[in-house]
Amino acid sequence: MKNIVLIGFMGCGKTEVGKILADKLGYTFIDTDSIIENEMGKSIAEIFHEYGEEHFRGLEARLVKELSGMRRCVISTGGGMVIHRENLLRLKKDGFMIWLKASPETIYGRVKSEQHRPLLRVENPLQEINKLLGIREPLYAEADITIETDGLDVEEIVGMIVDAYSKF
Ligand code: S3P
Repeated sequence: MKNIVLIGFMGCGKTEVGKILADKLGYTFIDTDSIIENEMGKSIAEIFHEYGEEHFRGLEARLVKELSGMRRCVISTGGGMVIHRENLLRLKKDGFMIWLKASPETIYGRVKSEQHRPLLRVENPLQEINKLLGIREPLYAEADITIETDGLDVEEIVGMIVDAYSKF
């Protein structure tokens, strides 16, 4: 069986949904941000601060290559993983890819009280969310399916994914 790959913007629930989904299916859960943090012994914020975003993107791309060939995994990706389209294509080749979509307002509501996302530590986070979504949405839209998560709870989202995966 192919992997399940969750993509989407920060704050769309990829990690939370991924963990429960993996548990339900008996699959291995992989969170790309956590793997990078463990490998580097630093938080994402520290990596951005010390080495810059481009370096982080390089780490993401290397990790995606390492993941190729894995099966029966639920892979939860960082929100910017897709900006190098090659990552998206690699992950999609071995996986059923799902875009967890949310409106800018929902995203803002979820991330505004959190401090660990360097790209949103700006004066006007909502404006930044809109800007980044404008760039990224065409890439997220390359997923096999899209789930509009606004108003849904985690269990509902997991149920929809299990259903779609069984038909895939
Ligand atoms: C990023 C999303 C983050 C993390 C990093 C950059 C992005 O992951 O990879 O802060 O560019 O959207 P989450 O989507 O899990 O928050």
